[in-house]
Amino acid sequence: MFLDELQSPVDAPHSDVHFSCFDSRQIELAAGLLRSGKVIAFPTETVYGLGADISQSQAIEKIFAIKRRPSNHPLITHFADITDLEYWASEIPTAAWLLAEHFWPGPLTLILHKSDRIPYSVTGGQDTVGLRIPQHPIAQALLRALGSRQAIAAPSANRFGHLSPTSAIHVREEFKNQIGMILDGGSCEVGLESTIVSCIGKTVMLLRPGGISVDAIENLLRQKILNNSLSHSVRVSGSLPAHYAPDTPLEICPTGNELWARASWFQQQGMRTAIVTHSSPPGTHKEHFDFILMPDDPVTYGKILYATLRKLDQLGYDQFLIEAPPNRLDWLAVTDRLQRASYHYLNKT
Ligand code: TXA
Ligand code: MG
Repeated sequence: MFLDELQSPVDAPHSDVHFSCFDSRQIELAAGLLRSGKVIAFPTETVYGLGADISQSQAIEKIFAIKRRPSNHPLITHFADITDLEYWASEIPTAAWLLAEHFWPGPLTLILHKSDRIPYSVTGGQDTVGLRIPQHPIAQALLRALGSRQAIAAPSANRFGHLSPTSAIHVREEFKNQIGMILDGGSCEVGLESTIVSCIGKTVMLLRPGGISVDAIENLLRQKILNNSLSHSVRVSGSLPAHYAPDTPLEICPTGNELWARASWFQQQGMRTAIVTHSSPPGTHKEHFDFILMPDDPVTYGKILYATLRKLDQLGYDQFLIEAPPNRLDWLAVTDRLQRASYHYLNKT
């Protein structure tokens, strides 16, 4: 069966959650809540963030509590204006300036030495900070309304280890009424989290693939960058193995016959299985299995991945079976998220 209701898992803004976000009064209201030490959710072009004013220590603590995230896992600091980079970071190497000037505002987070203005509560006690200028107009408006040289610490607005939210509805599903305000910007344009690049010392290192491709970074810098995204030595919660996971067990399976043989095996065990492919299934399989056909380009696939898994999660399947993405650099971010979503279950069996 073709799960066609999932073909457009992109949500429009929902009136019961959001305020009209291009309404400057609502932006002012949100900025006021941040100033008074409240936590709010807001859209970025990657995923929704759970934001607190970095100068409000209680609000920062609240983020960790709401997310149930260990307090030594650093948060990304979002700010509005590249001219303030030296205000938030120190010892900024040339490569970092190049990346910032080229990709900001946008889905790139740079790890740099922090300045004294960044509290240790935000960096999980580390001397480095993750910095990002988001592109989303609501995120930009919110930062500007908060004031000059102010910043918002924001992890993805999901419970620790769970799928990141790409719509306001997802945020509400994650936290119910625990947060005062959710600014609704509809579906996120990128749909996967920012690319994280460490620029500490002389090395440029990829810590998490994401919205900006490795190719684009290497072309700009005219050098290969180290890929540490699958190493767990750096304290990046996004690099912990069991992450970005749906509630339903998820397995990645090689494309072709192996995929359908595995699907048959699950079916024989009496397990309701949803199959997520990006190449069209052979005709006979179309009738026998529940499947969803994803886009076969990594950008569109990445944009709807989390929303698709969330919707599938609600349909009560026992198992998700995902056709392995192509083994290509442009699929790196999608592959990374799928691997982390499956890791938990791989290691349980
Ligand atoms: O797209 C994104 O990056 C979204 C939006 C809201 O900006 N944010 C996001 O935040 O994905 P979070 O907390 O879910 O993931 C950020 C990752 C975490 O894995 C954190 O450990 C890492 O960035 N990080 C932050 N500061 C770091 C630092 N100083 N050193 C190494 N990793 C850092
Ligand atoms: Mg996250």
